[in-house]
Amino acid sequence: MFQVSRGLENVIIKETSLTYIDGEKGILRYRGYNIEDLAENCEYEEVVYLMLFGELPNAKQLQEIKEKINQYEVPEEVLDSMKSLPRNADPISYMETAFSVMSIWGETINKFTALDIIAKASTIVSNVYRIKEGLRPKIPEPSESYAKSFLEATFSKKPSDEEVRAMNAALILYADHEVPASTTAALVSASTLTDIYSCIASALSALKGPLHGGAAEEAFKQFVEIGSPENVETWFNEKVVKGKNRLMGFGHRVYKTYDPRAKIFKKMAYSLANEEGKKYLQIAEKLEELGVNQFSQKKIYPNTDFYSGIVFYSLGFPIYMFTALFALSRVLGWLAHVIEYLENQPAIIWPRALYVGPEKRDFVPLKQRVG
Ligand code: ACO
Repeated sequence: MFQVSRGLENVIIKETSLTYIDGEKGILRYRGYNIEDLAENCEYEEVVYLMLFGELPNAKQLQEIKEKINQYEVPEEVLDSMKSLPRNADPISYMETAFSVMSIWGETINKFTALDIIAKASTIVSNVYRIKEGLRPKIPEPSESYAKSFLEATFSKKPSDEEVRAMNAALILYADHEVPASTTAALVSASTLTDIYSCIASALSALKGPLHGGAAEEAFKQFVEIGSPENVETWFNEKVVKGKNRLMGFGHRVYKTYDPRAKIFKKMAYSLANEEGKKYLQIAEKLEELGVNQFSQKKIYPNTDFYSGIVFYSLGFPIYMFTALFALSRVLGWLAHVIEYLENQPAIIWPRALYVGPEKRDFVPLKQRVG
């Protein structure tokens, strides 16, 4: 007998060796390594290698993978298509357009072509910002790290070591998270054997929504709307308690405790934030306290998007870029899951719906229909 699983909750769609989550204990691991260790000690490229090839690289393997990821050129049609969009288009629409255009070249997906896509994602996201800000498009220059090349190309200035470290950690923290809506969207597309760029475009459209990747922007907009730490309580009572609006950056389908990534982002925000960022941090902390008091009985706590915006803002990104930055990192998870799925269980994903409409009825010709 069919049974509807609301939001596909607790439906297992694949086996994975990529990411382990214990939502009750707040544990996140990539291929067995704790997220805290990876974010603290690794470069993003090490995590790329880990996710695609299964192990952390040695120094030679890391160097080789960096050389491959340093190929930032994209076909000129990609940047032209982005430039043709109105400047007020959503950053994710820019990314969807760029990836859709790339589907013309229809690459076969494997661990090596994945590296090429990761490199191109940097060029695309960097130029989302540049085009939206009216700046000349730019191809990132190869450097010691993906994070550094990305920041340098985006802002046309050399980032500090601290900024590179923070960008690197953010890339690692958002790199994968099992099969949330966006990854599932990529898998649904991949299961039809469509091209990989179309899979990424599918994932991007699912990521954009405020209940998923769009939440970092919405969480930060709450801090801006609140404006000052003294206003938090009144705002919370009006908007969340009486207004019944969701507290954005709170709650998670899998975590029933504090999201481990949120703790790391919070710590990073403390070391990066300038005066204005510190004000937002104070607001966020007060809001966290009220949110936890209100919702902990329902096991609703801050998720990764609650503090990540303060980190991105402190790195100089406008709010509109936050979801695109999440996507820049998550391209790795989408690629790794698609590759894993196609290697192991390449069945077309084709669920059913439970019919609850009328029983069979006799057809009534148009002229005889009344009312
Ligand atoms: N604020 C207030 N109440 C909430 C929140 C929240 N942020 N999240 C869940 N709830 C409540 C719901 O109202 C519901 O209450 P009820 O049982 O009394 O009706 C209960 O908790 C369960 O909520 P669901 O929406 O059924 O939980 P689900 O697992 O489907 O949703 C989701 C998870 C979408 C993340 C939800 O917690 C939410 O909307 N959060 C805010 C948006 C957000 O921050 N999204 C980012 C998620 S992390 C990520 O994508 C990287």
